[in-house]
Amino acid sequence: MLIQAILAQRFTLAVASLGVENAPIPLSKSTRPEFGEYQFNGAMALAKQLKKKPRDIAEDILQAVELSDIADKCEIAGPGFINIHLSKKWVSQQVQSASADERLNIKLAPARRVVVDYSSPNLAKEMHVGHLRSTIIGDAVVKVLEFLGHTVIRQNHMGDWGTQFGMLLAHLSDQLDQTQASAALSDLEDFYRAAKVRFDNEEGFADRAREYVVRLQSSDPDCLRLWEQFIDISITHSEEVYKQLQVSLSRNDVMGESAYNPDLPVLVEDLMTRGIAVVDQGATVVFLPEMADKEGNPAVYIIQKSGGGFLYATTDLAAVRYRCEQLKADRTLIFTDARQALHFKQTELVSRKAGYMPEAHSYQHCPFGMMLGKDGKPFKTRTGGTIKLADLLAEAKERAGKLVATRNPGSPASKDPKIALTIGIGAVKYADLSKNRTTDYIFDWDTMLSFEGNTAPYLQYAFTRIRSIFRKADVDMASQQSEVNVENASEHSLAVKLLQFEDTLLAVGNEATPHLLCTYLYELASLFMKFYEASPMLKADVDEMTKQSRLTLSALTARTLKSGLEMLGIETLEHM
Ligand code: ARG
Repeated sequence: MLIQAILAQRFTLAVASLGVENAPIPLSKSTRPEFGEYQFNGAMALAKQLKKKPRDIAEDILQAVELSDIADKCEIAGPGFINIHLSKKWVSQQVQSASADERLNIKLAPARRVVVDYSSPNLAKEMHVGHLRSTIIGDAVVKVLEFLGHTVIRQNHMGDWGTQFGMLLAHLSDQLDQTQASAALSDLEDFYRAAKVRFDNEEGFADRAREYVVRLQSSDPDCLRLWEQFIDISITHSEEVYKQLQVSLSRNDVMGESAYNPDLPVLVEDLMTRGIAVVDQGATVVFLPEMADKEGNPAVYIIQKSGGGFLYATTDLAAVRYRCEQLKADRTLIFTDARQALHFKQTELVSRKAGYMPEAHSYQHCPFGMMLGKDGKPFKTRTGGTIKLADLLAEAKERAGKLVATRNPGSPASKDPKIALTIGIGAVKYADLSKNRTTDYIFDWDTMLSFEGNTAPYLQYAFTRIRSIFRKADVDMASQQSEVNVENASEHSLAVKLLQFEDTLLAVGNEATPHLLCTYLYELASLFMKFYEASPMLKADVDEMTKQSRLTLSALTARTLKSGLEMLGIETLEHM
């Protein structure tokens, strides 16, 4: 149910009837139940435009707006706000109809082809916590977009090329005298460190590493074979992490930097002949006067170094071209840390100048902040090393296991490793997803594993609570449907929140902000807990109609929680 859209449409008509076209229609959710559920805040701006008193304008709009079917009270408040109280009858009907629909009445949006570029680790190293954010935020957005009916093309833009591979391949080649590639590369972090030590200290090794770079770039078959082995094993390591994280990326989604190699010289040539790129001090660059510094010097976007080498930027231009022309995408989302914001702004500008990206294509870099330790510094191991994802997830499982055991000693749940895993992984993912991605966030085991507050265990627990109501009532939740009669305040608040699911998903899809879904689910679960206190279902003195109506509200809540958590890549449980 798109409540915001319905209200916007009604108010647009009302405002137009005052003789104002295309006025903004600002609508927001009310902050307190006394003010109803929604508020129209447009009267103040219109008053200025029409030179009238805001309250008079609000009065005129109130006369004109047609809301009798959905609201049972609208009133003017403060300087000229219009508070809208949704009617219990309408809300009841909507909830009833949502509960009878498999998709909870959420319509399929007009489908777009969306490229989502996420995870994208650098294969020279093992994936570490820095890639956790890109992977899970990206995957949540993918799932929301797919649920809304869009065609999503996952692109794992892995860093599988570059001068670093010279050092790694030289080292690998030496190791192969004694062992197999898979054994040599069993720990990529150690492998990288060992190669780096040799590069920095061993006589002649750096020269060999450079030789390998040249051989790799000139497609020397032996060298390519070695590189392929390295990449293959690296991707396998990433796949293990995706599996543990229950992230929907597969090998088919890998479109690494190397895939664009053949296109890079062609692309530079194209930009040169069309005068978009020029040679400056030996390098090939695009000047961007649109992004000049304070002194008026244009930004310089380098696409080929003076020695002939291509860069990260060149590859990203090629990726734009591929995604627009071959994949026919009309929207791109890229999830990386915030430090790359400038790079993507410039990439977009160059792509548009070159005509690689049509006007209508929306190119959204979705930056995220850093994951910090409790001390507010970048998240590291006690000895200062980067934390491996695999170790982090093992710890999550262990901590969750202990938690369940202390809450419910001796219960079957406390001995079930699957439950510990689901809670542990859910907690780690949710802690990340629930924060506005643009800010840094503090990784703290105790808060993320708490059963109180905006956490995964709280939501998982709310779900199990509803499941246990249905077990007690001996009713099948999945097929629970009945007439819904919203009567008391706790039912009303819960029902309205249930109807806001679609608006929430739409916002998450537009802004690539899963935290909005987390906040929504947390509010929903909290309202359910209040409803559960205030609106008994299984007591003897509750009449059958009321019982059925409340069970339907509960079932819809559970289905909404489950569906929302699924999109966040978090499982629900029957018991905890
Ligand atoms: N490999 C890069 C990194 O780890 C992220 C790549 C993001 N995608 C892109 N098209 N540049 O920072």
